[in-house]
Amino acid sequence: MESKKSLPMRLLFLLCLVGLSVSESHCSGNLTVHPGTIKVLKGSKGLFNVTLCHNNTGSVVIHFQSSAEDVLTVEDNITIPQGEVGQPYPVEFHAKDAGITNIQMSSTQVDVSSEFVLVSSMENEALDTIAVIIGWIYFVAWSVSFYPQVYLNFRRRSVVGLSFDFLSYNFTGFLAYGIFNVGLYWIDEIKEEYTKQHKYSVIPVQLNDVVFTIHAFFITCVTIFQTFIYERGGQKVTTVCWILQSIAWMFVTVTLIITAVSSQSVLTWLEFVTFISYIKLGVTLIKYVPQVWMNFKRKSTDGWSIGNVLLDFTGGSYSILQMILISYNYNDWSSFFLDPTKFGLGLFSICFDIVFILQHYVWYKEQEPPGTENNDQEHLINSDAKDQ
Ligand SMILES: *[C@@H]1O[C@H](CO)[C@@H](O)[C@H](O)[C@H]1NC(C)=O
Ligand SMILES: *[C@@H]1O[C@H](CO)[C@@H](O)[C@H](O)[C@H]1NC(C)=O
Ligand SMILES: *[C@@H]1O[C@H](CO)[C@@H](O)[C@H](O)[C@H]1NC(C)=O
Ligand SMILES: *[C@@H]1O[C@H](CO)[C@@H](O)[C@H](O)[C@H]1NC(C)=O
Repeated sequence: MESKKSLPMRLLFLLCLVGLSVSESHCSGNLTVHPGTIKVLKGSKGLFNVTLCHNNTGSVVIHFQSSAEDVLTVEDNITIPQGEVGQPYPVEFHAKDAGITNIQMSSTQVDVSSEFVLVSSMENEALDTIAVIIGWIYFVAWSVSFYPQVYLNFRRRSVVGLSFDFLSYNFTGFLAYGIFNVGLYWIDEIKEEYTKQHKYSVIPVQLNDVVFTIHAFFITCVTIFQTFIYERGGQKVTTVCWILQSIAWMFVTVTLIITAVSSQSVLTWLEFVTFISYIKLGVTLIKYVPQVWMNFKRKSTDGWSIGNVLLDFTGGSYSILQMILISYNYNDWSSFFLDPTKFGLGLFSICFDIVFILQHYVWYKEQEPPGTENNDQEHLINSDAKDQ
């Protein structure tokens, strides 16, 4: 259930935005480019428009520079005559090969250095569609993956066998990830900081990330609520888990206070939400351990939903498959190198899912039949010997 930065969904979302705003390109700043993000097939030519926003005393020459000449070439310059304010001028480029390129601009007459066009040139259109479909499959698999556990708890009227530490880490993890996503998606101040620091790149959080995280947080709360109303067999959140989470939230509180009072000189809000996202990384590294341990101690996976594991495994594999497809199609393997945590964490969760699958179907198979629930409970109560 890790970082859901789906490129196809992002592109789809961008396409929708482009579709909505294609009719009118309103001017802001010194110069407006439209569209700012373009997807083309390799070997094809494309156009974008530049529009001057302020009246100029003379004609304006704007130079264009491709970040990778072997992948994409662009017209050297265009000249906008005096008085042609608000008039779109087409600029032609040629995508020679697959790759992600940005077209940068410069001019001696006006400062246009902050403007750029991001061109994604792909090998194959069918692959691009497949990547979008895979993106939806793993989005759905991951979102639905929370429900089998909720249903299992409801059916058994019991949460015995479900690690409370795991739930508790999930609560912290999704809350932290939610703050990061909402910050980068909705808070203008944070978005501006991001754009300033990461020139020529698109903000990595899209609506589907926000929706996923809010939903995941909500359903985690529902599961935690179930632990209060159903049979819990003396289980509780361990001291280690409380300590780790207290440290995490103390860290958040301290950085929040520093950010709020330091008037952005020590810590910016972008750095604040980035720090919070590290909590999510930390949580992902440890959250499955208590559940693996609990299954091991009980020699049973009874109470731990295998449906959840299978869906999580599906989501994780498809997200990695999609990363590979997109990287191949856009000949851009930088996401593996620039963002190794995303790939690494995906792989990490998959490994844990495999352990759970082995525990459920191979190692503790005999203990599974329904009638053994009471034995399991006794077993657990004996080993914990508390609260009953
Ligand atoms: C517009 O141009 C002026 C000077 O030419 C510059 O100071 C300003 O930063 C530019 N604005 C943008 C958005 O690039
Ligand atoms: C560029 O502007 C022209 C004239 O307004 C318009 O017909 C065309 O669709 C625009 N092209 C793009 C790629 O926005
Ligand atoms: C604009 O481009 C043309 C052809 O690409 C070139 O001959 C000319 O020197 C350029 N003008 C400027 C001002 O750089
Ligand atoms: C821009 O300036 C020129 C002369 O400098 C003038 O003729 C023209 O009307 C102006 N256009 C706009 C839109 O202000």
